[in-house]
Amino acid sequence: MLTNRGIPRATAAIGSFALISILISAVSVPGLENGLARTPPMGWNSWNSFALNINEETIRAMADAMLQTGMKRAGYDYVIVDAGWKNKERTPDGKLTADPRKFPSGMRSLGDYIHARGLKFGIYTDAGTQDCDGAGPGSSGHEEIDAAMFAAWGVDYVKEDWCKSEGLDARSAYTKMSRALQATGRPMVFSISEWGDNHPWVWAADVANLWRTTGDNKNCWDCGRETMEKPGGYPRGWTLILDSQVALKSYAGPNHWNDPDMLQVGNPGLSFEESRAHFSLWAILAAPLIAGNDLRTMSPQISSILLNEEVIRVDQDALGAPGTRVRKDGDLEVWARPLAEGSEAVVLFNRSASAAKITVDWKDLHWDEQEEVSVRDLWAHQDRGIKRKEYTASVPSHGVVMIRLKPAHR
Ligand code: GLA
Repeated sequence: MLTNRGIPRATAAIGSFALISILISAVSVPGLENGLARTPPMGWNSWNSFALNINEETIRAMADAMLQTGMKRAGYDYVIVDAGWKNKERTPDGKLTADPRKFPSGMRSLGDYIHARGLKFGIYTDAGTQDCDGAGPGSSGHEEIDAAMFAAWGVDYVKEDWCKSEGLDARSAYTKMSRALQATGRPMVFSISEWGDNHPWVWAADVANLWRTTGDNKNCWDCGRETMEKPGGYPRGWTLILDSQVALKSYAGPNHWNDPDMLQVGNPGLSFEESRAHFSLWAILAAPLIAGNDLRTMSPQISSILLNEEVIRVDQDALGAPGTRVRKDGDLEVWARPLAEGSEAVVLFNRSASAAKITVDWKDLHWDEQEEVSVRDLWAHQDRGIKRKEYTASVPSHGVVMIRLKPAHR
């Protein structure tokens, strides 16, 4: 599928504090304080199940399904049209248009359809000269005109990819689009998709609301190991992506999120336990929750995952502090994320081939061993009582137990 990858203070007197502030604001980029992503974005994107085979009927059907399945009620609100919507050529005056065979009513009309359902409209473009998979003209050199067009169509979310980007500097290319989007006056979430090749977590907080940290998430447990050192967005299983996120938590927070790529929950290739584990760990990472399955044919098992409000609440927690791995004993791992009001979300993750007991020790969380903590199981939807020192559970192979720990004294 993948072609042409780009390789690419303040104890001083008030007066001096004010001066420092002025100097800082004069040299920094404008900043993307658009307030659109206080918590990680949630929605649905066409790529993981339809790739380039999209058209307006499919996208409309998916917008309808967002309501019928309860996805919208659960908080998923963006409907994002990924690669495959564009006409291959720009108009003589340089504008993007939709492929008339796939989107005969045009993108404004599609946006209206999505908005009429109380949902938000997302669209795809590329920072280079061509979209990935040769799917249309890239936005390089056309940032202003494309941003203006997206605003005119009522777009609420722009994902910008990194194919055919040879010779471009990622930071300048994405800053250009970020400024162009802001200049339209229409609030639009900006999602950078350069696969982590240029370490956007270091520089993109002022530029984008979210940035991809890895290659594409493929619908498998751990395939694609050979791609791990390669730049360029190559697909790999979600457990490999998870491993590459361990050191990134400090870079993300409200309005600026690490994006380990869209969910593969509900697509063939992952078992029920693996899908549940994938969803739980994305919530620990404070990842955007962008579903990528065909919502029209979602099984009850899959909707029990995507619609688990207790896990979604962890992902969308108001503190906005991502979590990471706090313990690894071979294939048995403990992941934890601090939550508002001093609680902690914990995932006991079993990568081994058989069921195993996994323990989270209060020490793993830097808590006093004597602390009394109430434990709630977020998949069983049951309280597990007040515990001291530790909590142990039996975890299925390739599965998780996910709990919320609330210290009694906080
Ligand atoms: C890249 C991106 C994917 C998707 C495809 C479209 O692989 O990383 O998320 O947008 O391009 O071609």
